[in-house]
Amino acid sequence: MSKLTVMDHPLIIHKVSMLRDKNTGAKEFRELVNEISVLMAYEATRDLSMEETEIETPIAKMTTKILSGKKLAIVPILRAGLGMVDGLLSLIPVAKVGHIGLYRDPETLQPVEYYCKLPSDIAEREIILVDPMLATGGSAEAAIEFLKERGAANIRFMCLIASRKGIEVLQKAHPDVDIYAGAVDEVLNDHAYIVPGLGDAGDRLFGTK
Ligand code: PRP
Ligand code: URA
Repeated sequence: MSKLTVMDHPLIIHKVSMLRDKNTGAKEFRELVNEISVLMAYEATRDLSMEETEIETPIAKMTTKILSGKKLAIVPILRAGLGMVDGLLSLIPVAKVGHIGLYRDPETLQPVEYYCKLPSDIAEREIILVDPMLATGGSAEAAIEFLKERGAANIRFMCLIASRKGIEVLQKAHPDVDIYAGAVDEVLNDHAYIVPGLGDAGDRLFGTK
């Protein structure tokens, strides 16, 4: 079974609370999504591989560690995942960015792929798949399926709010994909929205409704 990491840092908990508030406007919402993504990136990259290197400080030679240079890709699930990309890129500027476009069919609630553009060497990259919401788990499950069909083998999933059901679905479908969640909510409503959640993440980010 994959590892689930739920953020317990006070700054993240505070910012997720602000994000949930219905009185938070689009500008502040975008800023919060960005800031939480930066803070979560710290946790989601904790196990990146490192290698030893020789450097020289102004005082002496030393052996130290740097990232081993394994290539990374950030892959947002469109649209709402876009809001998390800049935060991650600010910490990992050399990462490439792929995009997967999915929407939930309002009748069947099943994910439909409408766009996919990935770095050509996606199979060799460590992938951070991002989407603010993990509700039924259908979108993330399908996005990971699409990534694997294109050769991806090393994937982690980062979201701001996950439902208990979404976590279960994802862990069952993709036991190799670790999950990083800003918060976990227990319930989904009849429209598969997370309760209490934060509403529609895409609409709140982009001011559509
Ligand atoms: C939202 C959200 C996820 C998905 C989660 O996107 O950003 O992608 O729903 O739900 P699930 O876990 O039940 O699949 P939505 O389909 O509303 O599209 P949007 O990003 O374009 O708003
Ligand atoms: N998508 C959202 O944006 N919010 C939810 O609560 C569920 C799916």
